[in-house]
Amino acid sequence: MSKEFDVVVIGAGPGGYIAAIRAAQLGKTVACIEKWKNPAGTLKLGGTCLNVGCIPSKALLASSEEFENASHHLADHGISVENVKVDITKMLARKEGIVEKMTKGIEFLFRKNKITWLKGHGKFTGKTDAGVQIEVSGEGTDGETREVVTAKNVIIATGSKARHLPNVPVDNKIVADNEGALSFTEVPKKLAVIGAGVIGLELGSVWRRLGSEVTVLEVLPEFLGTADQALAKEAAKQFKKQGLDIQLGVKISEVKNSGNSVSLAYTDKDGNAQTLDADRLIVSIGRVPNTDNLGLESIGLKANERGFIDVDDHCATSVPNVYAIGDVVRGPMLAHKAEDEGVLVAEIIDGQKPHIDYNCIPWVIYTEPEIAWVGKTEQQLKAEGREVKTGQFPFMANGRALGINKADGFVKMIADAKTDELLGVHIISANASDLIAEAVVAMEFKAASEDIGRICHPHPSLSEVMREAALAVDKRALNM
Ligand code: FAD
Ligand code: NAI
Repeated sequence: MSKEFDVVVIGAGPGGYIAAIRAAQLGKTVACIEKWKNPAGTLKLGGTCLNVGCIPSKALLASSEEFENASHHLADHGISVENVKVDITKMLARKEGIVEKMTKGIEFLFRKNKITWLKGHGKFTGKTDAGVQIEVSGEGTDGETREVVTAKNVIIATGSKARHLPNVPVDNKIVADNEGALSFTEVPKKLAVIGAGVIGLELGSVWRRLGSEVTVLEVLPEFLGTADQALAKEAAKQFKKQGLDIQLGVKISEVKNSGNSVSLAYTDKDGNAQTLDADRLIVSIGRVPNTDNLGLESIGLKANERGFIDVDDHCATSVPNVYAIGDVVRGPMLAHKAEDEGVLVAEIIDGQKPHIDYNCIPWVIYTEPEIAWVGKTEQQLKAEGREVKTGQFPFMANGRALGINKADGFVKMIADAKTDELLGVHIISANASDLIAEAVVAMEFKAASEDIGRICHPHPSLSEVMREAALAVDKRALNM
């Protein structure tokens, strides 16, 4: 007889492991199938986010920022540091230590919540009256064990993987995707990056700070097209000042990996043929959903033409009791979006009626300054024909920002011209990732800009700029 569970989750990234925990909290019997192995061959929970995504990238961003501060900015405080050196092996070990702590933490949470970790690849094999059948294969103690489990409810949380360029093999040594780019064992003298999206900007920044000469090649003519263009303009200015060479409107024609270095041929925005030689290349051109060898057809499902699993607003697929969440479904590929969908589905399975407002999911790009936003951009709202008013306030006029030597950037708030309801908040500044949380709360509560303007904010703090931007919507900022 196959083992039976109330809920089987396929994938233990932030979507899957959070769904498993929430379902277990609600009294369900839960199993989670996960096959991820680290380079040492150890099975790991946590998915992309913990192993090769959010967590290791933020560790390296923090280390490289310390290096840049010591090398260039401590002098502004009257502190001189000579001979600043970087030990990449130690930096990578610190990053790996954080990943290890976090992934082990999930193993602890699984034990605490009595969640069974089924180690291996999960694949649907069919449906019976008892539930959905899933085969788990490949990673049992004897190497080739296969077992079939039965699930009353299934949550597909198989996530995504890096998109690669056709005919450009990724060896994660010279030509890297996110996995290799988080583990270069030395600082490349010249680094090429294809794609000026989130990974290109974050990992391009890491290696630039550590000493690489970085060129980012982006196919689109517009920089950061999904962000509010006021932020995109300011970001482009700051990155240029830092020495990131971002070229827009390029078309890559050839990538040659010699085994020691890489040579790129491309056409620039004016149609001129160009070449770029580099020691390493990062390919960061988006991600594709993981639906390979999942046996979807055996239960009457299939991935859509872009490889995603179609779901409704409640993450339900067309097959009863089968849900899908996170990067494998529509919507932004963000860890906190995957987590929220995990909680939502577990609660739906429990008979509750939860809801996610996708307009209130924040975005953050962890560059310096950070870029964060929630809600709509001014360009989107104008295209919708909505009448809006905006308020903007710079960090230059904030005492705390000056004190910590992080006075670049601003907050821009957009409110409905008549009702004053907040429609979008856009921040470029130090700690924008933390500041945006206030805007998310405000928008979830359908606050007006006046609400933020009336609320007491601590002094001196960066959050005062949030209040000033809100007041600026009504043209009454106090410190400008
Ligand atoms: P994943 O995290 O991809 O997990 C899916 C899991 O399913 C994997 O462990 C995989 O092994 C497993 N799996 C797949 N198929 C099967 C199968 N058939 N059987 C068993 N197991 C299977 N997002 C943010 O919000 N903030 C950030 O700062 C951020 N930084 C990022 C930095 C980088 C470099 C990258 C690459 C991504 C980053 N992201 C960030 C995006 C974030 O990592 C993803 O949105 C998030 O991990 C998606 O979670 P998920 O649970 O849907 O999938
Ligand atoms: P992305 O979608 O952010 O950016 C990809 C960029 O590559 C786009 O600007 C695109 O126009 C460009 N591009 C595509 N094909 C190209 C080509 N042939 N030549 C040149 N440019 C090309 O994808 P990215 O950076 O790979 O990241 C994947 C996803 O991971 C992100 O969309 C995001 O969802 C998630 N992520 C989130 C982070 C965060 O929240 N801070 C950090 C890193 C990743």
